[in-house]
Amino acid sequence: MSAEFKPVRKAVIPVAGWGTRFLPATKAMPKEMLPIVDTPTIQYIVEEAVASGIEQICLVTSHTKKAIEDHFDRTLELEALLEKGGKTEYLEQIRAIADMAEVVSVRQKEAKGLGHAVLCAESFVGDEPFAVLLGDDVVYNEETPCTKQLIDVYNETGGSVLGVQTVPHENICKYGCVDGEKIGDRLYTVNDMIEKPSPDEAPTDVGVLGRYVITPAIFKKLRETKPGAGGEIQLTDALKALAKDEKMYAYDFIGRRYDVGDRLGFLEATVEFALRRDDLKDAFAQYLKTVC
Ligand code: G1P
Repeated sequence: MSAEFKPVRKAVIPVAGWGTRFLPATKAMPKEMLPIVDTPTIQYIVEEAVASGIEQICLVTSHTKKAIEDHFDRTLELEALLEKGGKTEYLEQIRAIADMAEVVSVRQKEAKGLGHAVLCAESFVGDEPFAVLLGDDVVYNEETPCTKQLIDVYNETGGSVLGVQTVPHENICKYGCVDGEKIGDRLYTVNDMIEKPSPDEAPTDVGVLGRYVITPAIFKKLRETKPGAGGEIQLTDALKALAKDEKMYAYDFIGRRYDVGDRLGFLEATVEFALRRDDLKDAFAQYLKTVC
């Protein structure tokens, strides 16, 4: 490890997008507040970051996302009501959400893409490596959270690490695609990247699934990045440029990943998370048998 090695303590969670794939639900409500069973998707993401050792979280928001900031704040009136009613379990639950981590927010004032969203968090991140977690990707791994797996690789290699999995060939057009060499059990070097390639132009079926650990050198690259796919400043393009200067890795993380920005993916998450809940699984499994 180099003398410059710094631990990963901070995470950036971009939440400024409109969530058009989930209209009409997202017309007046942030998509990140849609609940899987009874917990907003953003809470699963923040819990993953915290369970991975992250201490400070920066939400990159827009003006329609106030409910997310409120969710991670204290709610004194509600707390008083629950206390008065003796509802201790709920009280502890909602207090714990506010105490989970230091959560701050910055505004992305214009919708200029994921790369631009990450750039908005530059002063929060400073000169440290940091994690990025995308809200549309919920990853379930009870033992080692996905972000922790990437941090472990960062700690060993000192390079940026992208969380990837092999996706069906026809779906690679939905993701950042990684071209590299397999150098370990689940580890690749990153030689090249393309954002949302057509299946014909994709060099591999290795897709980036919403988790990253990135060195702060990315900010210079982001400032230099011109609009790419979809006319947006793409994080993928800046990472591709960074991979030319620094070693970069892709790690085939272990875990079940749900695309909760997609209707079917959201339903899959809802059913599978409900079936993991002690208070619901028996009755819900019974119910599913009757309807299927
Ligand atoms: C973003 C990234 C893409 C990544 C994907 C993972 O795309 O740009 O590289 O593979 O998230 O979900 P989005 O789905 O926000 O368009």
